[in-house]
Amino acid sequence: MLTTPRPRARPARATYTFHDHAPQESSFEAAVVQGLSAPRKSIPFRFLYDAAGSALFEKICEQPEYYPTRTEMRILEREAPSIARLAGPRAQLVELGSGAGQKINLLLDALTDPAAYISVEISRAALLEAAARLADERPELDIHAVWADYSTPFALPLRADAGRVVGFFPGSSIGNFEPAQARNFLSLWARRLGPDADMIVGVDLIKPVEVLERAYDDAAGVTAAFSLNLLRRANRELHADFDLAGFRHEARYQAATGAVEIHLVSQCRQTVHVAGHDFAFAEGERLHIENSHKYDIEGFADLARQAGFQWHTAWTDPKRWFSVHYLRTPGAL
Ligand code: AVI
Repeated sequence: MLTTPRPRARPARATYTFHDHAPQESSFEAAVVQGLSAPRKSIPFRFLYDAAGSALFEKICEQPEYYPTRTEMRILEREAPSIARLAGPRAQLVELGSGAGQKINLLLDALTDPAAYISVEISRAALLEAAARLADERPELDIHAVWADYSTPFALPLRADAGRVVGFFPGSSIGNFEPAQARNFLSLWARRLGPDADMIVGVDLIKPVEVLERAYDDAAGVTAAFSLNLLRRANRELHADFDLAGFRHEARYQAATGAVEIHLVSQCRQTVHVAGHDFAFAEGERLHIENSHKYDIEGFADLARQAGFQWHTAWTDPKRWFSVHYLRTPGAL
């Protein structure tokens, strides 16, 4: 039987507002040349996240050894009603770095009549993709995509007619800052969120060294591939000639600093060429690429207080492997 297709009603286009604070692109070339010229070689961790690195990081989050993502998710699921009670009705949720969406959906489902969602993200592509996805799923929500470096000054598009402002910084991303940087970052956000605002921060906890080192050196080799991708990126973008087989990923917990320190270790004596410079590596020489700081609950609460927050509470899992802290800024005088 022949049927004539009926014209389908065109769905209304889901929308969000874009706020362009054009973050300064820091030069990968300058950072690599400077970092490899120092007596202790290093490359800043932010360069791990090109498109391939971001995809590998998503895969890390699915590895059985990498407990932070799923442990934090379980804590948030369990505590969503407490968060909704603390935040109150018509909250304005501000996410620092746009994540995979799962955690945000959980919070938006739990909150009472949320008024707005503001995402602050440095990667334009990741920001727009996440905002478009959320706008499709929640056409009734007031969504703001803020393209900015969340460590620099800019104004948030907050609404005077809505409820409490609630910052959300999950995943223990705070742990990739050195503690002094973490304190500065929190104090910047305490001011930016304004008086009587809340901040939810995911913080990984100190635990047995074997658990920590396995989480950063999974059996499937995904974390190793994530680290080595930095050298692949240098080869592609800077015409460098790193031999990826000549470097090994290493993750070691240093109790003295409370950080899992990640290095790439040169497997032989070798010289690498980057942007017209020669860099000699001795056998066993290490190139530092990332620290992931772990805290105890009191230690992080102190840091938050030093940054100007009032510490409200921390929720954790039965093994006390991860914590979600609820902070509040002092009220207006
Ligand atoms: C993004 N950040 C919180 C991760 C962490 O656990 O420090 C990055 C990471 N690096 C290797 N594995 C995960």
